[in-house]
Amino acid sequence: MYENKEYPGKNYNDVADWVFGAEIANRFTDEAEKHIPDYWKVIELTINILKDNIPKDGYIIDVGCASGNTLLYLSKQGFKNLFGIDYSQEMLKVASKNLSKVDKDFPSRLFHSKTFVQNMSFNAIICNWTLHFIQERQEYLKAIFDSLISQGLFILTEKTLQSKITENQYILFKQNKGLSNEEIERKKQQLEGVLNPFSVIQNLELLTTTGFSKIEIINARLGFITFLCIKS
Ligand SMILES: C[S@@+](CC[C@H](N)C(=O)[O-])C[C@H]1O[C@@H](n2cnc3c(N)ncnc32)[C@H](O)[C@@H]1O
Repeated sequence: MYENKEYPGKNYNDVADWVFGAEIANRFTDEAEKHIPDYWKVIELTINILKDNIPKDGYIIDVGCASGNTLLYLSKQGFKNLFGIDYSQEMLKVASKNLSKVDKDFPSRLFHSKTFVQNMSFNAIICNWTLHFIQERQEYLKAIFDSLISQGLFILTEKTLQSKITENQYILFKQNKGLSNEEIERKKQQLEGVLNPFSVIQNLELLTTTGFSKIEIINARLGFITFLCIKS
């Protein structure tokens, strides 16, 4: 193996890093179902919580909206002021196509940005399976917190650090979804240094430091944790 001088720690025969490009964007839902435990269950839970607690004209943004699955279902529930943000142009292209079927103006409410939106306030912010990709997590969370109205809701799902015991069960989950051991190993290598999980405790500390005082775990499976945070 030859060490890669540009990226110390990586070797020239390592697989390329994970990117949310066109190839993934066009088959995103299938990818998510095979790699994310409780993918649809968490989306359903997110929608039910918002349906019960946020008025239909409330402002909601989905951070890392990807292909727009959650926004699509929220729109079908009658929510009007929906926004999405993602840093992948290719993902947003797919989201725009999917969401313009329910509202032709939807694409204008999808923002291409690596940082959170400024000068807007929200009744609810969703960030499912995205924050673990963001390097400047503290700054991003602070921006989220500041833009939430009082009593606003923040729903966050993160992959957290797994023990070997949990990781083995996660591998079993993927095998049961039909993935080969080569595919599982390849994705694990691609995500190294790209998806940086924190422990459950580190996540709780981060949320508390940001200012959230009401934090609950509302779903957990194989190290994928969903937090409900309420801004007091
Ligand atoms: C696993 S997907 C999220 C899935 C999506 N929330 C859903 O419910 O289907 C992660 C997404 O985060 C986006 N992403 C990664 N870093 C980002 C950043 N700094 N700002 C916004 N989006 C980001 C990726 O482009 C990708 O679409």
